[in-house]
Amino acid sequence: MALSEVKVGLVGLGLVCESHIKAYRAHPKARVVAVCDLDQDRAGQIASKYGIPKTYTDYAQMLTDPEIDTVDITTPTVLHAPMAIAAARAGKHILCEKPFCLTLAEGQAACDAADAADVTLMVGESYIFMTSIMKARALIDAGHIGRPLQIRQRFGTWLERPGAHATDRAITDDHRGWRLDSTRAGGAGYPWMFDHCVHFFATAEYLMSDARIREVYALKSDLSWMQPPDAAETHMYRPESAGDIPIITWTYDDPACQGVWMRAEALNGKYDPMFGFSVSVIGETGMIEVLGEGGRGLTWRGKDAHLVLHRKTDGTDSLRFDEGGDEIWQSEVSYYSRAHLNQITEFIDALTTGQPPRYTGADGTRHVRTTMAAICSAKEGLPVRVNEVNDARFAGVPS
Ligand SMILES: NC(=O)c1ccc[n+]([C@@H]2O[C@H](COP(=O)([O-])OP(=O)(O)OC[C@H]3O[C@@H](n4cnc5c(N)ncnc54)[C@H](O)[C@@H]3O)[C@@H](O)[C@H]2O)c1
Repeated sequence: MALSEVKVGLVGLGLVCESHIKAYRAHPKARVVAVCDLDQDRAGQIASKYGIPKTYTDYAQMLTDPEIDTVDITTPTVLHAPMAIAAARAGKHILCEKPFCLTLAEGQAACDAADAADVTLMVGESYIFMTSIMKARALIDAGHIGRPLQIRQRFGTWLERPGAHATDRAITDDHRGWRLDSTRAGGAGYPWMFDHCVHFFATAEYLMSDARIREVYALKSDLSWMQPPDAAETHMYRPESAGDIPIITWTYDDPACQGVWMRAEALNGKYDPMFGFSVSVIGETGMIEVLGEGGRGLTWRGKDAHLVLHRKTDGTDSLRFDEGGDEIWQSEVSYYSRAHLNQITEFIDALTTGQPPRYTGADGTRHVRTTMAAICSAKEGLPVRVNEVNDARFAGVPS
């Protein structure tokens, strides 16, 4: 049943929570009525900053609050699926941050719990809600590059803006420290890859018109040379064992289509002008280049651009989306502000119209599985079919 107003309780008041809270505040049909964090002082600070009436330190207690009809889960990844299951059992609608689950079994269990309770479950896959990425998809849907055949994703350094809120709180085990530990962040030794590959694979399917990734092949390499000393975000996420993953390639169910993700950070800013995440999509009759999270350095004819559309016969268009820049990264495209706003607008619109949201628990689980395939591939040194990955194989348990 559609809600006329959405009353949200948000749990986990770390790096990403303020992007969510601001997005609810911008929506006329949404209100954050409670926040919850183990850290009572933090809950009090966020509540007073945004005028939120109630605070909790116990999630189970927040779920008994009858005023709350919807829960937003922005806690460490290990808690996502268990918290989503508890919310569904309490009859609350759910927005859960990515990665949706640590195992396929718990992802499925969370989807089943939401279905059984007849509540809406959306996963916060913010990459496919960036304005630039959505515009790229709209141009593809409108036929500007013909059938998309190849996607190339490039990952360069994310540079943090001086004074960004990511740095205004000391790192503790519960706040950001957990990200180094793959028992809580996921990844079977590759926590950074697990945390981020879901974004890359969601984008890889979205910008290829929802084509499904079939097989993944990832390289493992010594990347100790890679990170520049001023890389703000990724330096803390070293893999737990020697070697990391600099390149992933994949094929789709359609044998004509393929993709690649490449990472190299060390020379950004000196010789390599492209920062952050950016994507090229090559189609039968054209090509799109577009900036994603923390992206910077895409130009056309000497001018900064956010998206460049090259058509085989009709020339080139260069587009910009001036949305006020990013709250955290030195980037003109708005990720932490606008992608989260777009995503939460989609969620609230789904709850108030009764329509399913664009990115569901099944989508979140599928991209966790694709991520597992990439990590298995790097460890095993072989291409891995996504539908042949299971929890035991990912955990390294011999079959
Ligand atoms: N989509 C995005 O752009 C994006 C960006 C950042 C983080 N994330 C995701 O959001 C999630 C949270 O990441 P973050 O960087 O905001 O985390 P964080 O480490 O900054 O903060 C986590 C917060 O959760 C609280 N917490 C931990 N256990 C809790 C519990 N049992 N009950 C209540 N509160 C608890 C901690 O005290 C801390 O304040 C992660 O899964 C991450 O992958 C997504």
